[in-house]
Amino acid sequence: MLIVANWKAYVDTADKAKKLFASAKRLAQSADIALAMPYPYLGLFAGNKSTVALASQDVSISTGGADTGEVTASTLASLGVSYSVVGHSERRAKGETDEMVLEKVKRLLAHNVTPIVCVGEAERDLDARYLSGIRAQLAAVFAHLSQKERLSIVVAYEPIWAIGKTAAESIQPLELEEMVLYIRKVLGDYLPGKSAQKVRVLYGGSTEPTNARALAAGSGVDGFLVGHASVDAPTFSALVKAVS
Ligand code: PGA
Repeated sequence: MLIVANWKAYVDTADKAKKLFASAKRLAQSADIALAMPYPYLGLFAGNKSTVALASQDVSISTGGADTGEVTASTLASLGVSYSVVGHSERRAKGETDEMVLEKVKRLLAHNVTPIVCVGEAERDLDARYLSGIRAQLAAVFAHLSQKERLSIVVAYEPIWAIGKTAAESIQPLELEEMVLYIRKVLGDYLPGKSAQKVRVLYGGSTEPTNARALAAGSGVDGFLVGHASVDAPTFSALVKAVS
């Protein structure tokens, strides 16, 4: 299981970041942990000797140069960043398009940073038209990459209706199992044979200590992208222990 903490903008001082990092270091002795943090903190933990992986919450499409305020994939790679979240619904809501997501993915891959591509529907309809939206988000990335690049992507299924709620309002294990199967079926269009099974699929959207184990069991997910439950050390520890 890969557990990625998405700190969003919840962690707003370096002091809080250091405390959460110290706690994650202990957890990382027995679980695969990545911390997706605001950019400046990446510099704080670059070169640390723990097994906690560094992740960014975004990356620029810029390749560098005269581009005030942008943070490039090259910058992230130079700090030892392993993963970068792209296409998060909170970024898409601010204007990030499928085309931008693809550009970001390409920049990251060129610098050996693993993209975590977020997909997810805003709401569900009885005719299941939301499935074609998910297919389109996946196609917008996978159709434009080489076989090797496709296998380097991590997909995070994050239904918007489940984000920032409570475990009780989150997805149900059976619904998650169906979605993971669906995502792998779509990936099968781009990755022949059994190779679509190799792409890691994470779930995000109100994963908390109380529902994490049930969501992990039998759903086929390879891990979680955790928002609010990742920014309180005891809560995050309980969550990680529940699934590992
Ligand atoms: P949440 O956020 O766990 O607070 O729902 C998940 C995410 O948006 O990545």
